[in-house]
This record gives sequence, structure tokens and C-alpha cells, in this order.
Amino acid sequence: MRHPLVAGNWKMHGDRESVANLVTSLLKIDCEAEIAVFPPYIYVPLVAANIGDSGISVGAQNASEHDSGAFTGEVSCHMLRDFGCQYVIVGHSERRNIYSETDDQVAHKFAAVQSAGMTPILCVGETLEQRDQGKTLDVVAAQIEAVIERVGLGNICEAVIAYEPVWAIGTGKTASAAQAQEVHLALRQQLGDSGGKTRILYGGSVKAANAAELFMQPDIDGALVGGASLDANEFSEICKLA
Ligand code: 13P
Repeated sequence: MRHPLVAGNWKMHGDRESVANLVTSLLKIDCEAEIAVFPPYIYVPLVAANIGDSGISVGAQNASEHDSGAFTGEVSCHMLRDFGCQYVIVGHSERRNIYSETDDQVAHKFAAVQSAGMTPILCVGETLEQRDQGKTLDVVAAQIEAVIERVGLGNICEAVIAYEPVWAIGTGKTASAAQAQEVHLALRQQLGDSGGKTRILYGGSVKAANAAELFMQPDIDGALVGGASLDANEFSEICKLA
């Protein structure tokens, strides 16, 4: 049985006051699902201190693939672990597209996160053009394969995968439950025998209004939520539906 996970990716939003208020609201959520939140780096210590032993997890939105050294502006996995992170998002489409992260770099980051004792949330997803060309399953399979080549099937199965179609992120367009389930099933099959235990999240304009139908799909084990994770009521509803 896979324990549902609802992850809130706050992206580059918030300030000390709004972060503290959001955490106060999160602490009131009563749900079966695991909750994880991903503040901007600089707020990780504040969130980690305020969530205490509530059972909510904290993670980072990115990490360096390097252990330490002259990498101005970067944050290492060891540092994130040092401040209480349990998860790190790797390969988000905004990192791949805006910051030109390659499949190979994503695979390095994935390995670094696991080596530091944290769990990667590996994001994969196709653009609208790729979907229209019928390439969705090939694109996500190649993104997964790049990581399998570096860390092996056993290690990728210990991680969390997030299917986030690029065209559904921040656009208000969600993949239909059937479209998402098709990709989730293909991803699980690619993971082989151990893939039965791997949590595969859906991300892309998830809201309380569409979450229930997504979560009813057999291979959708939760959500990676962007915009709606900044709204405590909306996020709380999504967590209760998972
Ligand atoms: P939205 O929920 O705002 O579409 O963002 C999804 C996402 O990118 C989560 O990582």
C-alpha cells in the first residue's frame, strides 16, 4: 500500500510573515496523507523550526549536484540535510527550461540527494508540442531512463516521481484524470517489479476542485501542488482528498 503524499512547491513566493502564517495553518490540517512543503531555500530553517514534530516534512526545490566548493550561489545536499530537509525536488520543468538543466545534470542531482540521505522527487513531463506530436510517453520514459542509467532501478524506485505536464503548470489546464493515469501507469511499468512501491504524484494546476478525480486513479499517489499550496484552505482540502 502506497501512502499518499501531497507536496506543496511554494516556488519563489512568500516572506517571513506569510511563511509563518502558512505553517500555522498547515499544522491544523487533519488528514491521512503525508504532507511535505518546499519553501524557497532561505525559509527552510524557519519552516523546519515551526513544523516541529508535527509529521509534516520539509524539502528543497533544488540542490547542487556538487558536494562543496567554488559554486557561487549554490546550496549543497549536505547543507539541506543539515537544516532538516527530507526531500528535494529535482528536474522540475522550470529548472530544465529556464535554467537549462539537462537530463544528465538532473541524474547527478538525483544521485547527490540520495547520497545525502534524502528522498528526491523527480519531475518529468512533456511540453504541449510533444503531446500534440504523440511523443508524451517517449519523452517521460527518456527522462526516467537518464536517471536509471546513473543510479539503477533499485534506487529510482526508492524515490518519488512527479508527472508534471509542462502545459498544465500554472496554466489552469489540468491533464484529465485518464490522461494522467495513462502516463502514471507507463512510468510504473518502466520501473519494473519494484515500481509497485514507488509513489508517483501528479502535478499541474491541481486544486481542490479537480483533486478527487485525479486521486481516484489507481496509479496516482498524491500531488505536487504549486499555486494552490500557497492558499491554506485550498491546500488543506487537497490533503484531505488524498
Ligand atoms: P501549479 O500547481 O501552479 O500548476 O504548479 C505545479 C508545479 O509546478 C508544482 O511543482
